[in-house]
Amino acid sequence: MSAMNMTRIVISLLWLSALLGSCVSALTVDETAKLDNYIRTVMDCRHLGPGVSVTMVKGGEVVYSNSFGVVDVETQEPVTQKSKFCIGSATKSFTATLLGNLLTENKQINFDTLLSDILGDNFTLIDTQRSKHASLRDVLVHDMGVQRFDGCFMTGGFYNTTRAQAVRKLKYLKEALPFRSYFMYNNWMYMLAGYAAEKISGTGQTCEQLISDRILKPLGMDTAAWVTPDLNDWSGFALPHAYTLDGYRATQHSGNIFGYQTVMWLLPDLNVGVTISCNGPSDVGNLLGLQMIVYHALDILSGEPSWLNETTACSFPEPWARSDSEAADIRDILLIPKDYFPESSGGDSRPNDALRKASLPLDAFIGLYSNDFAGSMNISLNTDRNSLYFRHGTVGNGYMTKLQFPPNSFKIDFEGPLWFMSNSTSMMNTNLYFSVSDDDDVTQVTVPWFSADIYPVFTKDPQAPPQSAK
Ligand SMILES: *[C@@H]1O[C@H](CO)[C@@H](O)[C@H](O)[C@H]1NC(C)=O
Ligand SMILES: *[C@@H]1O[C@H](CO)[C@@H](O)[C@H](O)[C@H]1NC(C)=O
Ligand SMILES: *[C@@H]1O[C@H](CO)[C@@H](O)[C@H](O)[C@H]1NC(C)=O
Ligand SMILES: *[C@@H]1O[C@H](CO)[C@@H](O)[C@H](O)[C@H]1NC(C)=O
Ligand SMILES: *[C@@H]1O[C@H](CO)[C@@H](O)[C@H](O)[C@H]1NC(C)=O
Repeated sequence: MSAMNMTRIVISLLWLSALLGSCVSALTVDETAKLDNYIRTVMDCRHLGPGVSVTMVKGGEVVYSNSFGVVDVETQEPVTQKSKFCIGSATKSFTATLLGNLLTENKQINFDTLLSDILGDNFTLIDTQRSKHASLRDVLVHDMGVQRFDGCFMTGGFYNTTRAQAVRKLKYLKEALPFRSYFMYNNWMYMLAGYAAEKISGTGQTCEQLISDRILKPLGMDTAAWVTPDLNDWSGFALPHAYTLDGYRATQHSGNIFGYQTVMWLLPDLNVGVTISCNGPSDVGNLLGLQMIVYHALDILSGEPSWLNETTACSFPEPWARSDSEAADIRDILLIPKDYFPESSGGDSRPNDALRKASLPLDAFIGLYSNDFAGSMNISLNTDRNSLYFRHGTVGNGYMTKLQFPPNSFKIDFEGPLWFMSNSTSMMNTNLYFSVSDDDDVTQVTVPWFSADIYPVFTKDPQAPPQSAK
């Protein structure tokens, strides 16, 4: 299997286009025109965009599907019903649906079956409790309480790794919270769920093939595609954009990755759902704009009078709450998952010894650094720019700029698909904090943005490569 195929399997992101090829609407002409106007107004006043695709379903039928704005701000090419958006974490709903589908056929297994019964005795996580007592349900409901390590996911850190190999690395994810104590979102656990699905199916098919065969094809979702690891082929996709400045039962999930946002809401009691994708960054403006459209669409689908109109969608949270900084946390009002705003949980972010060390010359940092879970990080010196260069995974590449404080710390300005993470207020910083021994040797680097729960440490390999003379 080629490295690319393997990456595709591990990363498991799904690109989806709007469901149908033409604008379908079971709303009246008048309702459709009003909704079109509402969405345009919200995009304008909330600076939502540059491109948005909205689909509403009711009773299994698409009742509204339309697209707005542009796929690319440079060319001003409009978003069409065929434009693809990266749905990121919304892919998890496909993994869970696949498992449900497999379990209806395999009566020996249910959601409470232990992972060790499905994956065998060699399956190991950080401790015996999780290795031996975690069930499929624990993995799907995010109560495993292990380190999130999203950074490794973003950089494509597992690019030359099969899903089976990646599962064997999960034992290095540290305990962040006690098992089954709290909800704690974890992308890697869904990779594990996908692996369990492969084992349960017993067909030798990958998780991606199973989802395509059992979900996408029967639904006629012919234009949906899996992301390629190098992210070079953007033809047919809405380009990711990011700013450099900074009653009823409902199930909802959001995905945000590489400058795309997707929000999906289902009201199972009413058999209705809405999905919206946007090729813009996960800043508050875009998230508010997406929510304003979702709430309005759900009111239309449920037949409830809409509590938002074009005026209040633009003034929200006013007149209900103050919009200034003293008002309640806007994320609570909006029910935006806190996941959107990964925040540092404190901990040993900056090794204390770094504070009493003078800054070392750039040469001192050159080398390979390794972490049990995330593998190898390469820090090199670009002599043309006299700047250090960071590499991890397939797309984690960028120049490093020295921070004023603390000493021996840098921020990364990413190149390529992760560029939107640089200088962004909506993501955690991209800093690296190096530790220095009493002999003025660089010993390790702490990388908070790799996992905001327990900050990962990469240890410097003393062998490679030889440092230039001091
Ligand atoms: C489990 O691991 C042991 C030791 O690494 C190995 O010898 C054995 O073949 C493994 N069993 C399975 C079923 O993979
Ligand atoms: C991928 O892994 C194989 C086997 O582990 C190794 O030989 C190869 O050099 C790796 N390729 C890259 C690009 O790291
Ligand atoms: C919009 O809603 C607000 C608050 O419910 C209401 O005061 C206002 O009159 C409405 N505006 C329009 C144009 O319907
Ligand atoms: C680290 O990156 C530098 C610069 O691209 C490269 O020359 C070097 O071979 C890399 N080291 C390893 C071990 O991959
Ligand atoms: C981030 O800001 C730095 C200056 O602080 C600038 O050199 C760099 O190009 C910016 N990066 C991006 C992606 O805008």
